Amino acid sequence: MNINKNIEEDGVIFMSIKGDELNNSGENPASKEEKEDVVILAIESSCDESAAAVVKNGREVLSNIISSQIALHTVYGGVVPEIASRKHVEKMNGCIRAALSEAGMTLKDIDAVAVTYGPGLVGALLVGVSEAKAIAFATGKPLIGVHHIEGHISANFIENKDLEPPFVCLVVSGGHSHLVVVKDYGEYDIIGQTRDDAAGEAFDKVARAIGLGYPGGPKIDKAAKEGNPDAFSFPKAQIPDAEYDFSFSGLKSSVLNIINQAKMQGQELNQADVAASFQKAVVEVLVGHAIKACKEYGYNKLAIAGGVASNSGLRELMEKECKANGISFYRPSPVLCTDNAAMIGAAAYYEYKKGVRFGLDMNAVPNLPLGDRERRFHAGK
Ligand code: KG4
Ligand code: ZN
Repeated sequence: MNINKNIEEDGVIFMSIKGDELNNSGENPASKEEKEDVVILAIESSCDESAAAVVKNGREVLSNIISSQIALHTVYGGVVPEIASRKHVEKMNGCIRAALSEAGMTLKDIDAVAVTYGPGLVGALLVGVSEAKAIAFATGKPLIGVHHIEGHISANFIENKDLEPPFVCLVVSGGHSHLVVVKDYGEYDIIGQTRDDAAGEAFDKVARAIGLGYPGGPKIDKAAKEGNPDAFSFPKAQIPDAEYDFSFSGLKSSVLNIINQAKMQGQELNQADVAASFQKAVVEVLVGHAIKACKEYGYNKLAIAGGVASNSGLRELMEKECKANGISFYRPSPVLCTDNAAMIGAAAYYEYKKGVRFGLDMNAVPNLPLGDRERRFHAGK
């Protein structure tokens, strides 16, 4: 996969992602049943990435543009919602223009415009939603609202042309930790979720505590490679009445205790050892729950999704355990695990095929639930 990167004057990183895996239609189940191509312009702005992509038949990515603000938020130690919204306003038109141009298309060539309308930061979501509504109004093309997490799950369809539901998916991002059964396209049963912090949130908080800073996940991943994963034995919470649920707050407190103890005793903690031991504890719980779910629910396909799915420790252990248990393992390339619009275009295709159409009254829904959300089949006013 090729990532062309350009750092702009304001520190925002402009990326265009290309590769044969993205646009080779391969064994696309959609192309077997499809007579006419469906080309979707997809928009994503739920957090600190402004992104636009053009996706054909849910699986062929004709262009994938990401404008990442990560460097702008690093100085504050986390995403500042107001800055994120303002940057989306500045960058979104450029992303859309680049996405259409790289796909060799104009707005006339697209069949629908899709956008993430939740969950996420309300001000950030509103920028993408307003942009998509404006395009839909100006062109008269159908408008499709996409659930951000359903987008993450659908990222698996892009490089795995043969993957079709049903399968189990572990969704681990900055705001979500869910274990779901993907029963069909757009149909999910949640079998486990976090009781407190999301997995990505735990990575971010622990990174901050041990002085690695923001963004925590990639920094812990890198530091862990140099550390001893058995240096500390951190707790792996099991919830007796909900065996597929997660809890990371005890683990986080345990890391904080070790930091405080070391401070009181005037000892210096080895950052890499803490990172490696923490990562091992999180990864073992995630992998353990996911494999158990596959076995008990009788599925032999397992996918991972969300920013934490790019973690190298998680990818390695999940691959090993899937192999040992006769389960086929699916994972998007790291750049498709973190926020992007190609995944929104993939999810939107299956919504489009179901007849989902939003009206211009579409609004951002910051706490949109996964699973049983309301779907619109007729554009309103
Ligand atoms: O999916 P995502 O890009 O945004 C949300 O929808 O939340 O996920 C962001 C989260 C952050 O918490 C970040 O620290 C984590 O994903 N993350 C990682 C890695 N890369 C990103 N966590 C662990 N290891 C990584 N390599
Ligand atoms: Zn995300």
